[in-house]
Amino acid sequence: MARAVTVTYEVYPTPEAMALAAARLFASRVEKAVATRGVARVAISGGSTPKAIFQLLADPAGEFLATVPWDKLHLYWVDERCVGPDDPESNYGVARELLLSKVPLPAENVYRMEGELDPEEAAARYESVLRNSMKLEGAESPAFDLVALGMGPDGHTASLFPHTAALDEIGRLVVANHVVQKDTWRITLTWPVINQATEVVFEIDGAGKADVLAEVLTGPREIERLPSQLIRPSNGKLLFLLDEAAAAKLPAATEVFTTADGSRKVGSLEI
Ligand code: 6PG
Repeated sequence: MARAVTVTYEVYPTPEAMALAAARLFASRVEKAVATRGVARVAISGGSTPKAIFQLLADPAGEFLATVPWDKLHLYWVDERCVGPDDPESNYGVARELLLSKVPLPAENVYRMEGELDPEEAAARYESVLRNSMKLEGAESPAFDLVALGMGPDGHTASLFPHTAALDEIGRLVVANHVVQKDTWRITLTWPVINQATEVVFEIDGAGKADVLAEVLTGPREIERLPSQLIRPSNGKLLFLLDEAAAAKLPAATEVFTTADGSRKVGSLEI
């Protein structure tokens, strides 16, 4: 029986406003973890949605560059494409260009997945990186302070694609996943690891995601077809940051909060 999860979804008028909310969430969770434990561990996704968030975080005229305790942040990836770091498809490469090269984050605190290696070897090495950097013992599972996810129009998240082997993996922390629908391999955290995080957030924008998002949150449970339904954090809470277009097919978010730089509507669901 799947655990009960309370989904909170915050709906912003534009993708830009959603990206700003996502950057603020990133900054506040890093600051909170550092204040509590002296260190913050965050896992980020690839794809297009994080680009605007990275740019906001690295903006010299913005509110984040000078305030985020970058030297106490340890940065990990949720997934990676099987390409080298200089390949335009590289999730690490995009983050390096838009964020890492612009913020004072120590290189030894950046844990990239080695997409250039054999996928199985890269997955095994990254599992060791997680175990060593977090000093995990035995069956201990990593607990990120924040895991930031995206969602594809096919309902995938991380590199957990529909009808792929990684959906059945519950023992390992990281796997190589053959994605036949893209005729490629990916390296991805497994869903039990994501669900162990202190906070999990989906950051989604665009009308192209409205139908699948409504299916994932309000439709029947079909995890093989909609892998994002596997994301049910063990603390029973799941946050979605959305723009109006992506939220268009969800039950109306009724609570409205207006702040100096815009408004957001908030809704919640039990899944
Ligand atoms: C990746 C991602 C993937 C992404 C979704 C959404 O490597 O592609 O980690 O899971 O989050 O595909 O991608 P967009 O943000 O481009 O819509």
